[in-house]
Amino acid sequence: MKNIFITGATGFLGGELLVDLSKRNEVNKIYCLVRAGSKEKAMQRLKKVFDFHGDVFDPERIIPVQGDLAQDDLTECLIENKMLADVNYIVHSAANTSFSPIYDKLVEEININGLEKVLKWSQSLKNLDSFVYVGTATICGKQVKNRTVTEDESPNPNAEHLVKYTYTKTQGEILLHKYLTEDKVLIVRPSIILGDSRPWIPRSYVIMWTLATVNFLRLIPGDAHCLLDMVPVDYVSSAITKLMFKKRKYNVYHISAGEAAATTSELLCETIAHAFPDQPKFNFIGREMLKDVKLWARKRLNDDSKLNDYPEYLDYWNSIMDDTSDLRILMGGLDPYIEFMELGQVFDNSRLLEENIEGVGQSKPAHEYIKNSIHLLENIDIFEAALEP
Ligand SMILES: NC(=O)c1ccc[n+]([C@@H]2O[C@H](COP(=O)([O-])OP(=O)(O)OC[C@H]3O[C@@H](n4cnc5c(N)ncnc54)[C@H](OP(=O)(O)O)[C@@H]3O)[C@@H](O)[C@H]2O)c1
Repeated sequence: MKNIFITGATGFLGGELLVDLSKRNEVNKIYCLVRAGSKEKAMQRLKKVFDFHGDVFDPERIIPVQGDLAQDDLTECLIENKMLADVNYIVHSAANTSFSPIYDKLVEEININGLEKVLKWSQSLKNLDSFVYVGTATICGKQVKNRTVTEDESPNPNAEHLVKYTYTKTQGEILLHKYLTEDKVLIVRPSIILGDSRPWIPRSYVIMWTLATVNFLRLIPGDAHCLLDMVPVDYVSSAITKLMFKKRKYNVYHISAGEAAATTSELLCETIAHAFPDQPKFNFIGREMLKDVKLWARKRLNDDSKLNDYPEYLDYWNSIMDDTSDLRILMGGLDPYIEFMELGQVFDNSRLLEENIEGVGQSKPAHEYIKNSIHLLENIDIFEAALEP
């Protein structure tokens, strides 16, 4: 039986990982690094992770470790915590995933320095089998456009990044090799995690809010046809937990849709339109129109703007917003995501499929599996989400 130490278990993916790991026969105790004011509060946060989908919470096996990746003495606290000496696997899922430049410093602090603190502690573990690092396939950088990317192309120290987040995830991978030998490292790189393929509320609306925003606007300053690589959180968690306990051919894997199941904004919008048939038809006008949408929101649109060719949508926007300047909030939040989506990156998933893992075959395309939860778009507060992209 193996003991696990997991970070980020209160998050979108980490919550699924914690529950999946708790159900595995190989797993004994799971120590969870949790930010909380007290041990009781940390325990409550973990119980909530299990309660979310009615899974069994066993407080004898799920053990909170109060701590913060930003804490200066984290390494020392983990080393001094003798209960953790029997850890066999570290699953590092915690990260600050913000795309907003206002969080750049914090994103670096958590994703690079925080990781380094855990790595330093990992060196003191006598029985460490693997350090599982949850990376991201998007570290390949913005120079990669409209093609399929393989695992070996990253981490590329010369990659150019749209946001600090992907830069820090690249540096994280580089850092791993400074502290651990190759045989102890498992790097899993999900593509874009969108929703859950099961017919229930996902733990988090990360990325789903972009669909909710698109549903609200209907006239989209973006491209309809760029390929998007998206996978549901349950698929990602199942793949990671199964890879952990098997003899593997590689130590880096994309957890992605790949060429066979990549989707597009147009296909996703067809699924949305089916669920919300009473709103105007979707129309894509290109990302170059984003500036004009912002100008319209400020009532400063030039008369010769092409946006004036869509009066029915402008009337519609006037009818659904009390204050059209709110549109600037939405556009500010949406812009970095549109930029990402328009890179047209697809992440090769042949390594994962080659492993022939039971229950982890080719994932379904996002426009198919999202039908299960598309009605939930109505519940998302898009303005709130746009403020915390
Ligand atoms: N979502 C995606 O589309 C996607 C795609 C590819 C890769 N990934 C990777 O998957 C991992 C999980 O992402 P996610 O979407 O699940 O993120 P998430 O929902 O934002 O969860 C982040 C987790 O990290 C924890 N955390 C953040 N700052 C911390 C700190 N200072 N100290 C301790 N814990 C801290 C959070 O704890 P609190 O609950 O206390 O805030 C939370 O448990 C990340 O490594 C991310 O890079 C995500």
